[in-house]
Amino acid sequence: MQRILVLNPKGGSGKTTIATNLASYFASQGDRPLLQDNDPQASSSRWLKKRKPDQSIINGIAAFERNAGVTRAWQMRIPPDAGHVIVDTPAAVPAQEMPDMTKNADAIIVPVLPSDIDIHACSKCIADLLLIAKVRRDEYRIGVVANRVKRNTVIYQSLMRFLESLRIPVIATLRDSQNYVRAAEQGVGLFEMKRYVVEQDLEDWRPMLAWLKAKESAAQPAGSLDPVPAGSLPVSA
Ligand SMILES: Nc1ncnc2c1ncn2[C@@H]1O[C@H](COP(=O)(O)OP(=O)(O)OP(=O)(O)O)[C@@H](O)[C@H]1O
Ligand SMILES: [Mg+2]
Repeated sequence: MQRILVLNPKGGSGKTTIATNLASYFASQGDRPLLQDNDPQASSSRWLKKRKPDQSIINGIAAFERNAGVTRAWQMRIPPDAGHVIVDTPAAVPAQEMPDMTKNADAIIVPVLPSDIDIHACSKCIADLLLIAKVRRDEYRIGVVANRVKRNTVIYQSLMRFLESLRIPVIATLRDSQNYVRAAEQGVGLFEMKRYVVEQDLEDWRPMLAWLKAKESAAQPAGSLDPVPAGSLPVSA
């Protein structure tokens, strides 16, 4: 089971968009992923509720709720058939909570927008992950996603220069696209939309999916790997 944490205390950077689309991807691959919503705004949980019964199954936990009727361990239990747990986190997570949040994460995805404020916030987030949560660079658990980019802009160039200086891998560059807005409205992910509509966006996701797949393969004992079905994402980065 791979545990993926999507984190950036900066609001609106794309955490829920990435978490829900990852859940949609793994569901489209035959997994029954678990989407854990740690955000009291409940955006991921709301997205899950919009899903129709004929869509592939994504289990959800509204982890921000405290349910007096059951123990916390029961509320947070992971179904045995979940191959992936995706954790969506709120804005404004205090740095002191990061050690606990990150300790079991196999992958930590940090989305960042091309804006001066977001670049500044991202550098603080990475510094907190390295210095307070003590995630070591050589564990290669952190991947940054440049989100909502418009490639031919000066701020995009600044963002990429900044990300290079961090020495943390940039695992995807997602363009600014109305497909994400539509997907959020409909309770689907890109991977469940008409291919000709989302083709360009799906390309953007390949490197991130390959990065996650490589981490998963590296974590599994030799000889236990499932072959990747032909024609399915991810392919080479
Ligand atoms: N690549 C993109 N292209 C276009 N719109 C996007 C993209 N990524 C995210 N958005 C939109 O930006 C808004 C904020 O995204 P999202 O809710 O995923 O951010 P967040 O980090 O989860 O925010 P919060 O911190 O409030 O939880 C949403 O309306 C979403 O649809
Ligand atoms: Mg969110």
